[in-house]
Amino acid sequence: MENVDGIVARALAEFSAAQDPASLENAKARYLGKSGELTAVLKSLRALDPEARRSAGQSINDAKSRLEAALDARRGALADAKLALRLAEESLDVTLPGRGRGRGGVHPVIRTWSRVEAIFRSIGFNVADGPEIESDWYNFTALNQPENHPARSMHDTFYVDLNDAQGTPLLLRTHTSPMQVRYARMHRPPLKVIAPGRTYRVDSDATHSPMFHQVEGLWIDEDVSFADLKGVYTDFLRRFFETEELEVRFRPSFFPFTEPSAEIDMRFESGPLEGRWLEISGSGQVHPSVVRNFGLDPERYIGFAFGSGLERLTMLRYGIDDLRLFFDGDLRFLRQFA
Ligand code: DAH
Repeated sequence: MENVDGIVARALAEFSAAQDPASLENAKARYLGKSGELTAVLKSLRALDPEARRSAGQSINDAKSRLEAALDARRGALADAKLALRLAEESLDVTLPGRGRGRGGVHPVIRTWSRVEAIFRSIGFNVADGPEIESDWYNFTALNQPENHPARSMHDTFYVDLNDAQGTPLLLRTHTSPMQVRYARMHRPPLKVIAPGRTYRVDSDATHSPMFHQVEGLWIDEDVSFADLKGVYTDFLRRFFETEELEVRFRPSFFPFTEPSAEIDMRFESGPLEGRWLEISGSGQVHPSVVRNFGLDPERYIGFAFGSGLERLTMLRYGIDDLRLFFDGDLRFLRQFA
């Protein structure tokens, strides 16, 4: 019976070498299956006489139960190993630090927007808000820019494939000036309002972006003059830039919706931009035909309007030289304002 011990030894070695249930079951078949090695030995007992058959049978049965016990143990071990692996893979290390949640900050242009609102509110201006998709009539015609007016070409914009209820084409507003007309047609004088918001033009370089921000100002009453504009705007700039050392001048200019029209320039009397005249806003006395489009009598009502770029104000306040930085979304830039 040399070969029973030999078979058992080989079977035990193979069982413990099996790394997964399938190879273990294959190994079992090779020894204990219908045509397995141990089964073959059992079959060969028929040839022995009864005495020898009994003792050989005894030892084969012992061998069989040893192998079955070994199989059970190995099955259990493989199942345990599989479970342990899965637990390790799916484990959650609750002691790891969290990913963190970034703290947001207010965008520098929006920061300017709210400062502008606060300053103008404090001197009695209302704040109005209006549509960015505007009708051709409010954006141009009502502001004294009829179709084919050459000033329209400076305001190339994005048109929308729709008309408003009156049948005029719709476009992305090129300036906040249409808000003068909207506001005036909904309120009674005195009109004293600013309208900050987004504006659009087909323009893109270091100082122009297809989307940008403006703030419109309008003050209409029976006796509002350029002197009032100068006083209000100078006061605004001094408070916005937090310095009294700032001068303002009017430079003659042209806008279809004002007459006379002026560019407002400013000059710091100290600091890195000291002494340089900087263009800061368009302005003027509201044109009589625009006052008429407000639904008011230009013989009775007079006043001024201005339109300033919020990016421009922000760039001057923080010394930023490229407008595109505002819209790149680069956190290294934006964090400085958070
Ligand atoms: N709407 C003008 C622009 O976008 C700016 C402007 C100029 C607004 C003069 C005004 C104004 O209200 O009076 O270029």
